Amino acid sequence: MSQIQERYDALAYPARVTSASEPARMAAIARMHGHAGADPATARVLDIGCGVGTNALNLAMLQPRSTVVGIDVSGVQIDAAKAARQTLGVANARFEHVDLTQLPSDFGEFDYIVAHGLYAWIPDEVRQRLLAVVAQHLAPSGVALISYNIQPGWAFRSMARELMLRASGPAEPEHVVARAREALSDAVETAPEHSAWRHALAGLHAEVQDFSDADLFHDLLAHVCEPVWFHQFHSAAGQAGLRYMGESTFPETADLLLGNERRAALTELGSDLAARQTFKDALLNRAFRSSLMVRASNKIDSKYSPIRLQELFVWTDLNRTDVAGRYLSPSRGAVTLSEPALARVLDTLIAARPSAVLARDLPGNPDAVLHNLVGLWGYGFVDARVGQTRCADLSARPVAHSLARLLCQTGVVPNRRHESVNVDSEDAALLALLDGSREVAATELEAVRRFAQAGLLTP
Ligand SMILES: C[S@@+](CC[C@H](N)C(=O)[O-])C[C@H]1O[C@@H](n2cnc3c(N)ncnc32)[C@H](O)[C@@H]1O
Repeated sequence: MSQIQERYDALAYPARVTSASEPARMAAIARMHGHAGADPATARVLDIGCGVGTNALNLAMLQPRSTVVGIDVSGVQIDAAKAARQTLGVANARFEHVDLTQLPSDFGEFDYIVAHGLYAWIPDEVRQRLLAVVAQHLAPSGVALISYNIQPGWAFRSMARELMLRASGPAEPEHVVARAREALSDAVETAPEHSAWRHALAGLHAEVQDFSDADLFHDLLAHVCEPVWFHQFHSAAGQAGLRYMGESTFPETADLLLGNERRAALTELGSDLAARQTFKDALLNRAFRSSLMVRASNKIDSKYSPIRLQELFVWTDLNRTDVAGRYLSPSRGAVTLSEPALARVLDTLIAARPSAVLARDLPGNPDAVLHNLVGLWGYGFVDARVGQTRCADLSARPVAHSLARLLCQTGVVPNRRHESVNVDSEDAALLALLDGSREVAATELEAVRRFAQAGLLTP
């Protein structure tokens, strides 16, 4: 048994979904690049290194006509995935205990392949194999998401990792993690005051406070943890027969958030994609990438023509304030949009929630609406997908998404938009009861309304 398998068998990776790995979202970004991709409703999906299967199960539940296969080298995690599948009765998901390096060549062809949280944490020869497996099993018009740790953002993290590993030594996972946490706290205290080292350690220390023990054990304290420069990843993927399409979220790929000056500086670097992207990582001190890849035979067009958006479904997580044109974003605080046409689009999307709206049905001049949507999406104020996954609004006897009910004790549950939603113990207790058999009490109305807005209720 490999050390990697032993470590995941000993302490499972937290049950979580990765929003960007939803085929409906991958397909939306692919369409913006002029790449049609398969219909997510009937797609064949492979999740490599699926852990306890939460991501794969949620994908299967959101698209019952699709088929989803999850594979992992950890038998303990695959058993947990199979048990959850059985409990929930998800007929279109399947899990297999297999090392990706041993995947049979006739394992099948997939329209969407997900390899999230894997590439950085496997030895070099397995990485090469992973890229080859993706290239081999991806359908001709398929799209794959591969995430990886990137330089230069990991330069300092690797130093802190070294410090924590040396302090923790070989021990049971809980002792390793406890000693590593202590070592990091000590290092913050002992670093010279006002030094760059202390500043950086303090930042990491604050970040790690929110990590569960399993996160820390499998992330910074992993047995293998090898960040790469983008140009290295790009070259290895090219050799395997894969082409880089863009990042897995539209804001990361469209670069509007970089601002005009920085975008112009990137353009000056010319047509060498790897050089431009590597420079961008340096500019942003980026530590992580989640990239969309296609087979090398596909052409990619990054002009983001607005017309490509018209058949996409769009939604927002912004909320209105009392001031016209001013909105609150859960992640970015207050946002002011002085252009009335933008506000009209957002107000329509907020009124439609929890449903998404087909872009071409939004009010206003169609060309202007689509043009504005590219900007709103690029700044992260709206999100878009191919097709609609229906979420229910408040009703007398609501039904909560069954995977959310199963996982509510973990404090983080998946919703019907394939996002993670944090729930406190009170919300978790209520969510567990919402199986459609009971009426909502007056005192529970506000919480259930929140669940509906968060996409946690099933039609
Ligand atoms: C960091 S976890 C990520 C789990 C999941 N993809 C997620 O994002 O939540 C990495 C997973 O890859 C699995 N893994 C590592 N090496 C593997 C291999 N050679 N073949 C298949 N799975 C592997 C581990 O067992 C573990 O479950």
